[in-house]
Amino acid sequence: MVDAMEITSSPPPVCLADFAELARSVLPPQVWDYVDGGSGSEVTLAGNRTALDRVGVLPRVLTGVATPRLRTRLLGREYAMPVGVAPMAYQRLVHPDGEVALAAAARAAEVPYLASILGSTPIEQVTATGAEVWFQLYWLRDRGLVTDVLARARDAGCRALVVTVDVPVLGRRFRDLRNAFRLPPELVAANLPGGRDDLAHGGTPGVNPVAVDSGAAFAPALRWADLRWLGEHCELPLVVKGVLDPADAVRAVDAGARAVVVSNHGGRQLDGAPASATMLPEVVAAVGGRCEVLLDSGIRGGGDVLRALALGADGALVGRPMLWALAAGGQAGANTALTLLADELRDALALAGCADPAAARDLRTVPMG
Ligand SMILES: Cc1cc2nc3c(=O)[nH]c(=O)nc-3n(C[C@H](O)[C@H](O)[C@H](O)COP(=O)(O)O)c2cc1C
Repeated sequence: MVDAMEITSSPPPVCLADFAELARSVLPPQVWDYVDGGSGSEVTLAGNRTALDRVGVLPRVLTGVATPRLRTRLLGREYAMPVGVAPMAYQRLVHPDGEVALAAAARAAEVPYLASILGSTPIEQVTATGAEVWFQLYWLRDRGLVTDVLARARDAGCRALVVTVDVPVLGRRFRDLRNAFRLPPELVAANLPGGRDDLAHGGTPGVNPVAVDSGAAFAPALRWADLRWLGEHCELPLVVKGVLDPADAVRAVDAGARAVVVSNHGGRQLDGAPASATMLPEVVAAVGGRCEVLLDSGIRGGGDVLRALALGADGALVGRPMLWALAAGGQAGANTALTLLADELRDALALAGCADPAAARDLRTVPMG
């Protein structure tokens, strides 16, 4: 692993993409593939970038804005910018400090940290960083375990419950299958009851042990009634992550969601699903202000956050770039990544003539090219 000193000594990263090469150079190839890869032919993974690149944002001039304010309210709480760290499993795969380092960086940047139920650090240690933690749930087959883990998240001080709904089964990830990718023995899903993830450590060629493990633990056949049940049994604000269809977004609001995350899981689930950015305007129109709307999948800088806002989102989540930064430099790397994001977003808002994120939602977008 490189440490923060090395990051500052060589040409320092000037954008999030610079962390990708640093991460690639320090991670074992199969871990890099697990982070970087998507499902199937990775058409949706590539489409996320293409779609964002095709969003032209029409800047306004002479608006009198010098230094835009980034502060934003999400789920009734104030954050330093309309950006959160997306939930990602097993962060100690890429750096020994894992979840604690990313959460501490989120705390320093005053942005929400979304903690995966598949975290490799117990949720209590994550909230002990002082970060604003939103707990992300994959629905377990055993409903008793669902209520147990929810109580644990609430007692640990989590601020929101994010239920991910786009994983009825794990997407077929060819890179992981070819690598027979499995978790190292010392890495466990620290928020699941002991031994739950034994299967994730197996190793049969052509089989993805992480997928086998998820299939055993997670309930595959959820319905809207289950979501309503969750809304009624959880005191935390409910966020539904992994919605692309505007009609589903409306159903989520009707079931009690305070926010939806328009996401295709970073191209890791249904290959061939449309880019999240493509569906965002329709989702925003369909929910008509009844819930907040966040975007993820392909966000790689402040300019992309501006695009998300201009397409009508209230904020965006950043996934892989935070793991790149963590791999490259631990918490210091993640701090740098979030500082770069804030600086880029401030500049992008200024260049578009916007005083704050709310003003960006009134910008016009035009197809690029
Ligand atoms: C290595 C990795 C692990 C992930 N684990 C989870 C998870 O445990 N729960 C979840 O809801 N989403 C998970 N995701 C999806 C992210 O939350 C997010 O939707 C996606 O990474 C956004 O796309 P981006 O990486 O292009 O920014 C994971 C993504 C990656 C890359």
